[in-house]
Amino acid sequence: MRRIGVVGAGHVGLVTAACFARLGHTVVCADNDTDKICRLKKLEMPFFESGLEDLVKGAVRKSRLLFTSSVAELAKKSEIIFIAVGTPTTLEGRPDLSFVEQVTIEIAKAFTGIKKEPVSEKRPYRLIVEKSTVPVLTGEWVKRTFELLAPTGVDFDIAANPEFLREGSAVHDFFHPDRIVIGTENVRAKKLFEEIYKPIQAPIVFCDIRSAELIKHASNSFLALKISYINAISRICEKVGADVEKVAEGMGYDTRIGKAFLRAGIGYGGSCFPKDVRAFITLAQEIGVPFRLLEEVEAINREQRLVVVRKARELLWNLKDKKICVFGLSFKPDTDDIRESPAIEIANLFLKEGAKIKCYDPKAMDAAKKLLTGVRFCRNPYEAARGCHLLALLTEWKEFKALDFARIRKLMQSPHIVDGRNFLDPEALRKLGFVYRGIGRDI
Ligand code: UGA
Repeated sequence: MRRIGVVGAGHVGLVTAACFARLGHTVVCADNDTDKICRLKKLEMPFFESGLEDLVKGAVRKSRLLFTSSVAELAKKSEIIFIAVGTPTTLEGRPDLSFVEQVTIEIAKAFTGIKKEPVSEKRPYRLIVEKSTVPVLTGEWVKRTFELLAPTGVDFDIAANPEFLREGSAVHDFFHPDRIVIGTENVRAKKLFEEIYKPIQAPIVFCDIRSAELIKHASNSFLALKISYINAISRICEKVGADVEKVAEGMGYDTRIGKAFLRAGIGYGGSCFPKDVRAFITLAQEIGVPFRLLEEVEAINREQRLVVVRKARELLWNLKDKKICVFGLSFKPDTDDIRESPAIEIANLFLKEGAKIKCYDPKAMDAAKKLLTGVRFCRNPYEAARGCHLLALLTEWKEFKALDFARIRKLMQSPHIVDGRNFLDPEALRKLGFVYRGIGRDI
């Protein structure tokens, strides 16, 4: 078993730390947010992620997982160090890598004072791994920075091991990935990865660091492309009277296309796709290979937010002073994450048009309060629907399917539903007297 360090206790870092601890390694997880670390020490989770709390509690109880706000402490205790800090987008659309740089500096400086040992085995060795989504060539920078600042007595390798975890199913995804991608420069690093990922059944793609970095860009952008593709198809479906759900089903059975990520709706959101697509476009631009296909992916995604507002207008005429109830605020179900959530954007568009908003989300209301002002947050969906002219379903939480829509019909002032995720049963709702509009299936 190895001593592993994970810098960053966000969605990627904390899940990675807890899962490696579950595999039996001793893991230190660091974050510069001291408040977050204090709460984690008290076993309070900083965000909701299915299965994570039990994993963290179990690992802490067995003393396999500890938290610190000191990267230096982590660097001294860990042989393999994953960097999983945030890479927010700058105004120019580039990822801000200053946190990655800062962490690299702190790791390097943790070894200040170490003298070069004559016997090489005695030299401390560190494998420093990029885990955050970073642009291609970041590995070079991490290496140069470490080489420059770490004392010569420290031996090290750099590697890239991009993560493909999805929020909401991140713990499951860690233990059951489609593949593991590892970019290394030598056999020593490769062997360590083979050892720590041994219990996981998945193909491992070993490659150079740049290719590993690029696999992450290319994968997220391709998934975003699939979503924008089906959303573009949904617009055509609406014009010609076809059903996008059937079109997607018919396409998806072709194994070359696959069923996944062909759900039409209000467009992709979250902390990854919008940022990653933008970063890839900017990077391609900067290296002189403009990626116009991705620019279109982004444009379609932006426009998709407006579809729900247009549909609401078609049903209600003016939105000013109309009461709209919004079901779902998180960027997707099973998470309380509202970063780049299309639902929040759409709620704000309604507000701009003068509508009165009542909303309900099973997990994301506390977070949403910071981004939505002048909105009524309701304790349950029925309270949210009461007196409204239109219901907009914007996040497909399972519990929305089980609602008593006959009751909702009676509570509402007028029976209009815009289903931004094609989640509800149009026929059943129409039978109850609702006027139903989905995305690309209003036939
Ligand atoms: C995404 C990737 O799926 C992960 O593999 C990757 O590790 C992660 O980004 C990352 O880079 O960190 P995530 O952002 O958690 O994961 O969420 P997804 O499940 O991929 O959904 C992203 C967005 O696309 C959501 O807003 C979702 O509603 C939307 N979506 C997804 C659609 O509109 N249609 C679909 O068919 C699928």
